[in-house]
Order: sequence, then structure tokens, then C-alpha cells
Amino acid sequence: MKNLSFAFLLLLFCYNAVAQTAGAINIIPQPVKTIQKTGNFSLPAHIVIEAPQTIEMQQTLQFLSQKLTTTTGATIEIKDKAPQATIKLVVNTVANKEIGNEGYQLSVNPSTIVISANTAAGLFYGAQSLIQLCPAAIEGTVLVKNVSWMAPCAEITDYPRFEWRGLMFDVSRHFFTKAEVKDFIDLMARYKFNILHWHLTDDEGWRIEIKSFPKLTQVGAWNVKKEGYFGTFTAPKPDAPRNYGGFYTQEDIKEVVAYAKARFVNIVPEVDVPGHSLAAIASYPELSCTPGAEKYKVRSGEEIMDWSHGAPPIALVDNTLCPANEKVYDFLDKVMTEVAALFPFDYIHVGGDECPKNFWEKSEAIKDLMQKQGLKNMQEVQSYFEKRLETIVESKGKKFLGWDEILEGGLAPNAAVMSWRGEKGGIEASNLHHDVIMTPSPYTYVDFMQSDRVTEPHVYATLRLNKAYQFEPVPKGADAKYIKGGQANLWTEQIYNTRHLQYMLWPRAFATSESVWSQKENKNWNSFITRVEAQF
Ligand code: ACM
Repeated sequence: MKNLSFAFLLLLFCYNAVAQTAGAINIIPQPVKTIQKTGNFSLPAHIVIEAPQTIEMQQTLQFLSQKLTTTTGATIEIKDKAPQATIKLVVNTVANKEIGNEGYQLSVNPSTIVISANTAAGLFYGAQSLIQLCPAAIEGTVLVKNVSWMAPCAEITDYPRFEWRGLMFDVSRHFFTKAEVKDFIDLMARYKFNILHWHLTDDEGWRIEIKSFPKLTQVGAWNVKKEGYFGTFTAPKPDAPRNYGGFYTQEDIKEVVAYAKARFVNIVPEVDVPGHSLAAIASYPELSCTPGAEKYKVRSGEEIMDWSHGAPPIALVDNTLCPANEKVYDFLDKVMTEVAALFPFDYIHVGGDECPKNFWEKSEAIKDLMQKQGLKNMQEVQSYFEKRLETIVESKGKKFLGWDEILEGGLAPNAAVMSWRGEKGGIEASNLHHDVIMTPSPYTYVDFMQSDRVTEPHVYATLRLNKAYQFEPVPKGADAKYIKGGQANLWTEQIYNTRHLQYMLWPRAFATSESVWSQKENKNWNSFITRVEAQF
């Protein structure tokens, strides 16, 4: 009997120990202030949520309903007013200045939870943190038995460090469907990213329907399916079927923009010019400075640029738009008109990176342009192009954003700069009082290998999680006032499907999310790595 009582007590002790440890707080990105209190909130079999039922709140309420019922078997009721509510979502009547436009406060008590914020976005982020407090099983898609559905009692105050918290998704090198893009948005929003930089055009595919130029997607969206290490493929035979790829119709784009908006994600479309433009040139060869329409084919992974001499690369086939051709500016004007009408966010990204100059050097039209405009070198030719493009973009009511090469030869007057070749471009642009988004490749290129090279599909560089975690968006020497935030970039030359995409993105984008959301002094690798394991 004594032994039995002892065994019972031991069991009880173990149960309590489990119950207590069940409630470790593992939120990513790390909130500004977290006070864990004793005890746990236990999810009842019937949950009542009190919340304003506005359009902006729809996604948050749907998200909470789905997460709190699917695996738990609980039922849910959502009301405008419910004094006995289990969970209350409250928009502050008097703004709480500390938490700003995207912050929230989350108070978890044994039988009630309150999330308060100044805005619907703040409540959305509070809901994300709440679900991260729950057992991992809550992420399932079917009923799960034998789980204590509890969350640790806590008081959390949280708000972002930066307004620009981005992920770039390259859908040109490999096409990803509308549904896959929506999945990408769902996942990024879970970690409080708010910008999807959508890389829509490149040498390998033009992915956005432009009604004034139908060949951009009739021709430009399709290449020849090849497998293996992209960039080393043999050129396809002339008659090989060009049926690999795809594009988004304007209706698709509107649907994705609305989907993102409901999750408080803004989309920055990128039309990458004047380099990286082979898909556009294969569709409309007259946009190049170099005659020979028959030469131009959307790239299928064959070598088209020689990097052995460093940057800028030497193009083996002219993949650049011609800055000396007025038709190019007419083209860009029409493209930007349609792009601006589809994307409500302030910025259009115009690329500007890795533009080869060797075909421009040979062009008589470029020589004439240089003489007329007093341009001394090819950097100034690109700068002339960028300034004209800035005028076009601004005429559509949008802000002009480009990769840091747009600094070379003189920055356009109002350009914002995305610093990717390390931090130098961002430091320089911020000191010139231009807005900057930091995305230095040594810390934020999540297409690089992340593990030992023998275990990874080969890519030319490596970025370990620890290094990704060291990303500091305000580098030494920068004017912090102009650093709007940062982002990680997912180029997809070597990424052929969504499962591989997820493998590359996570957990390194957790590190980015913490660099752009959390306070610098709250970052701690040991704490982060424990939380990453919990997120797995
Ligand atoms: C880039 O990685 N070429 C911006």
C-alpha cells in the first residue's frame, strides 16, 4: 500500500513537472517584453471569442478559429460583445504609443486571454504569438487526442523594430503556382514578416501578364524543362518543346495581393531591368541594342554570363534592354502603368543588378547616346537609364527601388536602395539620405547551402543559421534614420519545388525575422536555437 501511495505521488509529481514544462515560451521572433507567470491557461471545450468583426479582422478570426478547433475538437463562437469571453481581441480606444501600428499586448491568465492593439495588424500579430504559446500539436490538420491544450500564463508586450520586414521570392528561375505563393505568404505572416518582394521577371521567365505586350507571357514565360545543376545545362535544341514555366494572369495577381493584404503583407513587385531581361528580349527582340532576333531564347539554365572576370559579368548573349532605344522607355512606361495598377503598395522594384555592359560597348546607338548626354562610361549609361525609369515609375505614383548597382554612375534623385552586395551600398545610400533596405548576401541569402556541402544540393556559397542570426540591419557607418529594415532573399535557380523551398527558407528566415522584428538587445543565440527546436 505504502509503495502504491509512493508510486501515485511520484506519478503526480511527474505529471506536474510535465504540466509545468509544457508551458515554456518559445515565440519567434522574440517579443520585446515577456513576463511568464505561474500557471497555465486551459482551453475549454467551448471557446467564446469577443472581437470586432470587421473586414480587417476576418483573417485573424479565421486563423484563430481554425487553429483552436481543428486539432483540439473545441467548438467556437465569435461575438462582438461577450462579457464571459474566453479570448478577447480589443482595439485600443486610446492608442498605446509604446506599441505603435503593429504592436500588441497579450495577457494570458488561467481562464481568459486578452490581446489588445492599436490596429487590426497588431491583433493579427498577437494571435500569431498566442498560437505559438500553445502545444505544437495545434499545427495539425486533424483531431489530436491526449494533449493538454494549455498555454503558459504570461504578460507580453511586443512591437517591431523595423517597418520593412521582407522576404524575396524568385518565381522566375522556377515558376511557383498561385497556391504555392499563397502558402509562402501564410508562412511568412506566421513570423511577422510584412513585405513579400516578388521577383517576377528574369532571364528564365516573365511571370506577370502585361496586356499591352502579350508576347511577354506567350513567349517569355516558357523555357525547356531541364534537371540537374542549373547554370551548367547544355543549350536546348532549337525544336525542343518550350512548355516549362507559367505566369500569373492579372486576375491571379489581384487575388494574391488581396490574400497578402488580409494577412498584413504588402507586395513589392520586381521587374528586373535593364539586365536579367532575356525573357523580355526573347519576346520583343527590338528591346535589345544587338540585332539578331533568332539568337534570343528564354534561358533554360544554360550558361549566358561569364563571371570569371568579376562584376559586371560578360554576357554571352545580350540579355540587356537598350538604354539608347526610345522604344524601351515606351515599353517600360506601359509595363509600369499596368504593374502600378495591380499593386497598391508604394514601391516598385526595378532590379538594376548584374547588368552586363559588353554589348552596350559595341553599340553605335549607345555611343551616340553617350555623346549627346555627355556620359563618360557604361555606369553612367546605366545611371541615365535608371533616372529615366525613375521618372516613369514616379509618374505612376510609385516609389523607385533598385538593387545597389543603381548607385553606380550616380543615384536617381529619389531612389531607394536595396543593399545586397554586402553592407557598403546601404551605408553609402543612407549617408546620401536615400531610403535603404538591407539584404546583405553574407547574412540573408537563403538560397545558399545551409549545412555541410556533402549533405546539400550544391549551390555556390554557404550561409549557416548562426551567420544568418548575426544579421544586423543597421551596419556601422550607416545613417540609421534611412534604414527602413531588412529582408532575406530566396533565389530559386536550384529550387525546383515547394518542399525544397521550405527546406531552404526555414529555419534561416526565423533568424531574419528576429533581426528585423526583435529589439537588438533581446537577440540571443542560445535562446534562439532552443526556440528554433520548439518551432520544428
Ligand atoms: C542579386 O542577388 N543579383 C540581387
